[in-house]
Parts: sequence; structure tokens; C-alpha cells
Amino acid sequence: MNLTLRVWRQAGPDAPGRFETYQAADISPDSSFLEMLDLVNEGLIEQGEEPIEFMHDCREGICGTCGIMINGQAHGPASQTATCQLHMRTFSDGDELVLEPWRASGFPVLKDLVVDRSAFDHIVEAGGYVTVDTGSAPDANLIPIPKDTADLAMDAAACIGCGACVAACPNGAAQLFTSAKIAHLNSLPQGQAERYQRTESMVDVMEEYFGSCTNMGECEAACPKGISIDFIAMMNKDYRKAKFQNRRSA
Ligand code: FES
Repeated sequence: MNLTLRVWRQAGPDAPGRFETYQAADISPDSSFLEMLDLVNEGLIEQGEEPIEFMHDCREGICGTCGIMINGQAHGPASQTATCQLHMRTFSDGDELVLEPWRASGFPVLKDLVVDRSAFDHIVEAGGYVTVDTGSAPDANLIPIPKDTADLAMDAAACIGCGACVAACPNGAAQLFTSAKIAHLNSLPQGQAERYQRTESMVDVMEEYFGSCTNMGECEAACPKGISIDFIAMMNKDYRKAKFQNRRSA
């Protein structure tokens, strides 16, 4: 396959950006999208040019570090597929692909296709944990958890924190990410003691960095893990309760 890439190049956070055009020649349809970028970068290095910066780690849809807007879609055209899981057979020979970093004020561009997603870390730091006594590991079945509850928690915990939800949202909102991180703890017995404190703290930090949700649903469509926007409704319900509960206990 031969493709034309129009890639966003930006030397640093404060540098002006621009699109540059590159040819990706003789690409195997069975190669992954990131392998295609590796080949383009090898060519750039051979010519003495700066390679295209992009994020990746696991390359198997687990770590959440990859993320590129491909022709205006977060992670590209394939449903529930992270950029690293995308195969070149998804595209056609001769296609032109426009590659951009996540576009959101909460994710400032660091270089080329790499953005700063530390705002997500700040949200998790605000309450994405349970406080437990230290000591030896408890017996596995000490706290019985109904299957439906365990499934719900696991569905929320599938969020890999890639930020596609924010990039796809016209408001640059992070409700899907935040609600998934809250729900996987709030739905389990171990998460109840800090439930309302957690919810209020994480939502308040989220609002410092990201826009507001207006139920567009683009986040759910872009999510490589299929996280449901039902979690946003659960978060909003808990946030309303938290406002009363936390004021009473203050
Ligand atoms: S590189 Fe880890 S999810 Fe894509």
C-alpha cells in the first residue's frame, strides 16, 4: 500500500504548528498503524530529518498511551480499537490520512502528536483509590460481591485513560474518563467508605481542566474500550448526593 500522510508537526508546546506531507510507501496491509509510522520515521531519520513524535508503550490496547486523531476521528475509523491496534488493512491503497494530536485545552500539545495528559493523573490523585489497613493479603472471598456488581465494576475498570473521550468531545469534557474511574470503586463494597468524598473531589478537579458534558455521546463512540455513558449518569447522581452528604459531615 502507498499512502499520503499529512502530519501535524510542532517543535514544542509554545512553537507554532503546521501540517507536513509525507509518503508512506510499500506498507504491508497487515502492519499496524504504529509500525507504519515507525517505517516513515526510519525514512526521515535516514534523510537527517526529525522523526514524528508519537506516544506508545504496550502496543496492544492496554496502557492507554497511544492516541492520534486520524482523519478527524480519535484512534481512527475502527470501532473500539486503540491506535496501536489499528491495522493498515483498515485503509485503502492511495488514501490520504490526516494525523493530528488530541485537540483539547485540557491536553496541551508537547510535540507533534504527543500531548500532556497529566490532568488525568490529577483527577485520579484526588480520589481514585480506597484507603485500607495494611497487613497481609485478605482471603480472596472475604467480601462476597454479587456477579452483576463485579461485572459493572470491571466494565468501568476497562478504561485505559487514553483520552479519546476528551478528544472526541466538542466540549473537551472528561466526564466519561472520570465517571469510569469513580464507578469502578463506588460500585464495590470496598469503595463505599470514601464514596461521596471521592466523587466530589474527583469531579471538582476534573472541572479545573476540562469542559462540561452536554450529552453529545461522542465519548462513548470514540472509546476503544466501549465504556458506557451510563457511568456519567451514575457519577452525576453520586455528585448530587455528595454535595449534601459532605456538607452534613463537614
Ligand atoms: S500503546 Fe498501549 S494502548 Fe496503545
